[in-house]
Amino acid sequence: MGAGIVEVFARNGIDVLAVEISDAALERGRAVLVGSTDRAVAKGKLAPADRDALLGRVSFEVGLAALRDVDLVVEAVPERLDLKQRLFAELDRVCKPSAILATNTSSLSVTDISVATQRPDQVIGIHFFNPAPVMKLVEVVRTVVTAPEVVAGVEALCGRLGKVDVTINDRAGFIANALLFGYLNQAVTMYEARYASREDIDAAMKLGCGLPMGPLALLDLIGLDTAYEVLDTMYRRGGRDRRHAPAPLIKQMVTAGLLGRKSGRGFYTYAKPGSPALV
Ligand code: 3HC
Repeated sequence: MGAGIVEVFARNGIDVLAVEISDAALERGRAVLVGSTDRAVAKGKLAPADRDALLGRVSFEVGLAALRDVDLVVEAVPERLDLKQRLFAELDRVCKPSAILATNTSSLSVTDISVATQRPDQVIGIHFFNPAPVMKLVEVVRTVVTAPEVVAGVEALCGRLGKVDVTINDRAGFIANALLFGYLNQAVTMYEARYASREDIDAAMKLGCGLPMGPLALLDLIGLDTAYEVLDTMYRRGGRDRRHAPAPLIKQMVTAGLLGRKSGRGFYTYAKPGSPALV
């Protein structure tokens, strides 16, 4: 997600500082960005000179100290509240007082994240969808204390990024994930019960309902680890609604390292085409 969000900003003429936790993570992110822009060039959608200009707008750093002069931070670390709260407390110390601190969280409470800082009025949710360079929607999430001018500024920014924004209050899963994840979870339950094959489940929703991809392929795109965290958070925050109790198979796949596209295997196999992913 981080690399995709960086691409969205840089594509739209904005200088970006991409900050990672380690050199290895930074190289992975850089490879995603370069791969995505190279594909656009190969398809004739981006001129080589524009690709070079885009990449020239991105600098890479390890560690938060580099963020001291930025106007906006978009955080995209894993979906764990303790991790995000620790990060926001640190960002609050490092970033200049006027900086807006945004989270790309899928399901955690933006309010819970904001209170880790001394500037909760400047904390907001900017929720991109995967793949960020392609999906048009951004959910802008305001808390009860987000300053109206911060909300207005972020809405204007979404327009500059070529996105359509919807602004909502802080609720588990916001709009899209609140509606999407019960369906994805149900698809895993159906597969787990061996009612239908993964290909048939995906074909039914893709070819029968006109969705761009089936639910199991979409879970591979989202990442099974992220999907588990989103479901678990929604289950706990949303009154323990059974629809969001993560299907046991999801946890088993995460434990086994079957995270989807990012690890090369999930419901399907990506690293070695043709070989089965799950028995
Ligand atoms: N990064 C950048 N660009 C990408 C990309 C990626 N990871 N994946 C695909 N693209 C681009 C392609 O280059 C292509 O661009 P072009 O039209 O300019 O040539 C375009 O997207 C279409 O790609 P493809 O032709 O390869 O394949 P498809 O037509 O099948 O589209 C898809 C792929 C865009 C992923 C489409 O299947 C889709 O929209 N799937 C649904 C995705 C979705 O629902 N996302 C939301 C997930 S929920 C979420 O993110 C919330 C979070 O909180 C969990």
